[in-house]
Amino acid sequence: MQTSTLPSSDDVPRGRLACVGLGMTLGSHLTPLARSHIEQADVVFAALSDGIVEMWLQRMHPDVRSLQPYYQEGKSRLRTYRQWVEVMMAEVRAGKRVCGVFYGHPGIFAWSPHKAIEAARAEGFQAHMEPGISAEDCLYADLGIDPGRYGCQHFEASQLLFYERRIDPAGYLVLWQVGLVGDRSLARFTTGPAYRLDHEVILYRGATLPIDKPRIRRVPLRDLPHVPLPVEETVVLPPSAALKPNLAVRERLDALDKSFLEDGSK
Ligand SMILES: C[S@@+](CC[C@H](N)C(=O)[O-])C[C@H]1O[C@@H](n2cnc3c(N)ncnc32)[C@H](O)[C@@H]1O
Repeated sequence: MQTSTLPSSDDVPRGRLACVGLGMTLGSHLTPLARSHIEQADVVFAALSDGIVEMWLQRMHPDVRSLQPYYQEGKSRLRTYRQWVEVMMAEVRAGKRVCGVFYGHPGIFAWSPHKAIEAARAEGFQAHMEPGISAEDCLYADLGIDPGRYGCQHFEASQLLFYERRIDPAGYLVLWQVGLVGDRSLARFTTGPAYRLDHEVILYRGATLPIDKPRIRRVPLRDLPHVPLPVEETVVLPPSAALKPNLAVRERLDALDKSFLEDGSK
């Protein structure tokens, strides 16, 4: 008699994790797949932009647990984010279907969803990320920017200050979490040649409630350190330099075209 080599259902960890994005604007950005992950979960954890959005989520599931109380004045954000991973993982290990709901896209400028999925998979649980409409998507629509036109770099603002990064002033520069940077002197801009002090900077806040309109403020770069910047705003620097043609590559391509045409005419 053949014995089955398949593991019995007792051996397979039942707990699973889905991290989904709710999108930016209440009611209009939630995808059917994200909704189904929420509805089918045993427990839902929520890190959302707004208390009203959290109330809306509560109408989709009876056990929604807010992750907001883990934030505390003076406590490191990284510690909070580690705790988010731990509370979600504790329920996964207890055999629950867990859904972590994050505003925007759960994988964009968001540490815990990536980390929780990594941890769950490392322990043999199923884990999945379901994308959502992020602030980035809304920004392109509201500001009329196509990242394909000049290219677009995205940085977390502190990283730009604390590490040597290369900014390409011929493309758009999008800075996230500028409101969290303690020192907003943005010395790299003011001392570097990439941007003039009168270069226009766009301060952008996308709508999170259907009654909101996007907030778009335009200020010269020199004023940026003095403008109050709420943490939910994103800063965009339009290109400050023209695209520079790569003459060497163009010449080589022209030469290739020419020899191709010459060969064809023989
Ligand atoms: C922790 S990240 C979360 C981003 C989110 N996961 C997403 O997909 O958009 C927080 C940063 O996102 C940006 N952000 C959040 N809400 C925003 C909004 N309503 N409008 C524009 N940018 C926003 C800001 O740069 C903020 O500092």
